[in-house]
Amino acid sequence: MSAGVRTVAVIGAGKIGELMLSGLLRSGWPVDRLLATARRPARAEELTARYGVRVVDNLTAVDEADVLAVSVKPQDAAVLLDEIGPKVPGGKLVISLCAGLPSSFFSRRLPEGTPVVRVMTNTPALVDEAMTAISAGAHATGEHLALAEEMFKPLGSTIRVPESQQDAVTALSGSGPAYFYLLVEAMTDAGILLGLPRQVAHDLIVQTAIGSAVMLRDSGEHPVKLREAVTSPAGTTISAVRELENHGVRAALLAALEAARDRARELAAQAE
Ligand SMILES: NC(=O)c1ccc[n+]([C@@H]2O[C@H](COP(=O)([O-])OP(=O)(O)OC[C@H]3O[C@@H](n4cnc5c(N)ncnc54)[C@H](OP(=O)(O)O)[C@@H]3O)[C@@H](O)[C@H]2O)c1
Repeated sequence: MSAGVRTVAVIGAGKIGELMLSGLLRSGWPVDRLLATARRPARAEELTARYGVRVVDNLTAVDEADVLAVSVKPQDAAVLLDEIGPKVPGGKLVISLCAGLPSSFFSRRLPEGTPVVRVMTNTPALVDEAMTAISAGAHATGEHLALAEEMFKPLGSTIRVPESQQDAVTALSGSGPAYFYLLVEAMTDAGILLGLPRQVAHDLIVQTAIGSAVMLRDSGEHPVKLREAVTSPAGTTISAVRELENHGVRAALLAALEAARDRARELAAQAE
């Protein structure tokens, strides 16, 4: 059975679940092969109005769907699995989008033999530029990974990683968009400090971010090489780079990502 003729239920369709729904629809996934669940009736109405998707209760989703994509907050996962875990028929694929939670968290609460795939995507899925990392949990075969890839490929790029790397992935690409937004915000402020109108500063830095990202992706060059090309001897760029190094930007990033990785571990411990 090809991916498109399977029914996917997004269990807990909040921000990330909605990204997945809208991405699947944009990629041509038939709406009658999608289900969603939500806690609040207002959220259910919103999803149906926006996407025409059928919103059902969790147990109906478990019964009708072939693939269960769980996208609740990590702290809500145990309550959800207490409800649906024992009712999941053997062989249904469970895909977790929950940050931090190991696939074993799911396996312990699902019938023996249930295949689990752990996925970490990010919000640029909204513009089909997501970075999605996919890992096999217990009982997940190559076919299950391929199916997960087929579902997430239309939302951007996908990569397979061992599950042991998923907390690092969460820190790097799951939270990553926030770091870039923070940089853009700070650089826009810097432009204002230098006397530029806010909109001009914003436009300059956003296009510079896009151009730099495309070069990083498409040139195949190491970032150091690309930076060197902008850094002439005794020039303006090296003066700025000295200040970035003086203020410990590199060390701050190392510490920040370690903190995000540790927080993913804490969330998993609290969810137990
Ligand atoms: N946001 C990101 O950038 C990002 C990136 C990567 C991964 N993630 C992961 O994605 C997951 C979801 O994050 P989010 O930002 O999308 O959170 P969110 O917007 O709060 O979405 C979670 C949704 O789950 C619903 N829900 C909770 N318990 C439920 C239950 N028992 N039955 C049915 N629905 C239930 C909530 O309903 P109510 O709205 O009614 O409470 C909410 O709509 C998290 O595990 C997070 O770690 C997020």
